[in-house]
Amino acid sequence: MTKSFRVAVLPGDGIGPEVVREAVDLLGRLGELTGLSCHIEEGIFGGAAYEQTGDPLPEETLRLCREADAVLMGAVGGPKWEHLPREKRPETGLLRLRKSLDLYANLRPAVVFESMLKASTLKSEVAEGVDLLVVRELTGGIYFGEKACTRTAEGERASDQLVYHDWEIERIVRKAFELAMLRRKKLTSVDKANVLESSRLWRRVVERLSADYPEVDVEHMLVDNCAMQLVYRPRQFDVIVTENMFGDILSDEAAMLTGSIGMLPSASLGKGRFGLYEPVHGSAPDIAGKGVANPIATILSMAMMLKYSFGCAKEAELVEKAVERALQEGARTADIAGEGEPVLGTRGMAEKIRMHLERLAAEQG
Ligand code: IPM
Ligand code: MG
Repeated sequence: MTKSFRVAVLPGDGIGPEVVREAVDLLGRLGELTGLSCHIEEGIFGGAAYEQTGDPLPEETLRLCREADAVLMGAVGGPKWEHLPREKRPETGLLRLRKSLDLYANLRPAVVFESMLKASTLKSEVAEGVDLLVVRELTGGIYFGEKACTRTAEGERASDQLVYHDWEIERIVRKAFELAMLRRKKLTSVDKANVLESSRLWRRVVERLSADYPEVDVEHMLVDNCAMQLVYRPRQFDVIVTENMFGDILSDEAAMLTGSIGMLPSASLGKGRFGLYEPVHGSAPDIAGKGVANPIATILSMAMMLKYSFGCAKEAELVEKAVERALQEGARTADIAGEGEPVLGTRGMAEKIRMHLERLAAEQG
């Protein structure tokens, strides 16, 4: 029986539509090659949705996502919508989407491909062999705490509360332990326990859960030290688990180890198999519509979807291998090209990857 999955596709803003198109095309080709069948339905989201409906996350789009097996997303936001009130901003739509679907676990892998060593801003001997996974809590913490901005006699006063319940910490930390078990069995829990009460609770929960995973080597690291260690000795990391905002910052930093944020995929998972998959990069309005954006982050996000939501690990690996081969062969978009190296556009890069996908599928018969 052929497997069939429903995918809600949200191209979003800026370079979102360009990179998503390539990932969807590749998914279609993969289907022809392997028998995997996906039913694609597109929804409006972000600034694009605001323009049409006045809401960055229309009810209709949310319903489409709820009815799907997975969501594949481009990127949202842009200077055009920056000055809107918070509720109308594309970013708020994204936060609402994550929260409404209860996608509390954000997985952001950073892998330095051998053939891409030169693209890293770090020395090759530092970046070589990096293979880490940032597990970011995505539906709690300072992003979702009470917000206020008031005018006082002394001027304006604004606040954002950082709140965590023990159960919120427990489920994300458990997920991180499970993922560490499938990898090199090392977990670094990152917090600011020398200052924050929420971090002290975080540490206690990690300590408690570690008893259930005796094989995993657990360490606690303060977030400022982690930021430093990431560029000093990044190979020491396997799985990093941390709260929402620390994860936001550290995952951008980890992304850069690989040479370009244009390479980094992400998965946001909840309780079951359902997940939302999006590149770590933003909507890059400065290069939108030019056909020069790197589609790899979105293509690798699609591969994560195959693995985590569809349980199609073999197909996912095929896509990852195709990307790796294209890079090995020297395929480069502008963001990862060295001086004097020939540069491909979005389409050109995707085509190279498709060609390798076809070859790999043929090799495997
Ligand atoms: C990310 C982004 C978002 C976040 C923004 C766009 C709200 O930076 O996915 O990392 O902070 O979570
Ligand atoms: Mg971010």
